[in-house]
Amino acid sequence: MIAAASNQTKRLYERTASAADRGAWSAERDIKWTAIDRDRAYARPEILSALRDAALIESYHPVNLARLIKATWDDIDAGVVFSLELYEGFKHFQVLRRYLEKIGYDPAITDDELVEIRRSHAETDVDGDLIERLVEFMLSEHLAHYFFRRLGEQAVEPVLADLLGRISADEVRHAQSASDLIAKRIASNPELIPRVLDAALDFHHFGEQAIGTVPVAQPGDPIAIQTFARRIERLCGKRLVDHIKNGMKG
Ligand SMILES: [Fe+2]
Ligand SMILES: [Fe+2]
Repeated sequence: MIAAASNQTKRLYERTASAADRGAWSAERDIKWTAIDRDRAYARPEILSALRDAALIESYHPVNLARLIKATWDDIDAGVVFSLELYEGFKHFQVLRRYLEKIGYDPAITDDELVEIRRSHAETDVDGDLIERLVEFMLSEHLAHYFFRRLGEQAVEPVLADLLGRISADEVRHAQSASDLIAKRIASNPELIPRVLDAALDFHHFGEQAIGTVPVAQPGDPIAIQTFARRIERLCGKRLVDHIKNGMKG
């Protein structure tokens, strides 16, 4: 009978935490830092530049997530989802910066630069638009998954390709956790649905707050865009195109 209290009844935060546990990898033990092939890394300078931007965006998490944690203090699941995101986002920042340092990438990322990026948004709060911010978070994670995945496919340096594959797998879990948080809110308040649809149409990656533009691994990636719409449609039980046709009135 205890076993019957299966996945369906498992608390959202339990499911999130066990998925994180199953997907865990170690920056110290699993990445072959000493095997990096510097020449192959520099064979694709545009990948290195995109990596640098990605490291800056990952380092911005404490500002973005602090306000989400504050705005969801009464949601136990959300506290866990964002805590795990903070940890794994930190790990992404840590390994991307370390990789660039190992190959002597110029310009090096400095702590002053990271603080400067955070400064302009440090005081921003979630203000009555929590559901919109959750949608922004979910879709940012969704696109981060495709970004790292495509970059990993393009990378010719094996240590980097491996690293990007691991990060990409983390991001798809993050997008799913955010989706679960939104689904929970919709279940208790279906009136949120039109706001979720509007937020998807109005989407801007949170990385834009950090660095102005967000690096793209494959412009107009059709699968990333299709699955983006599908994520929203699964949550809302309604097609984004129909929402547009109906004059975005729900
Ligand atoms: Fe990340
Ligand atoms: Fe993430």
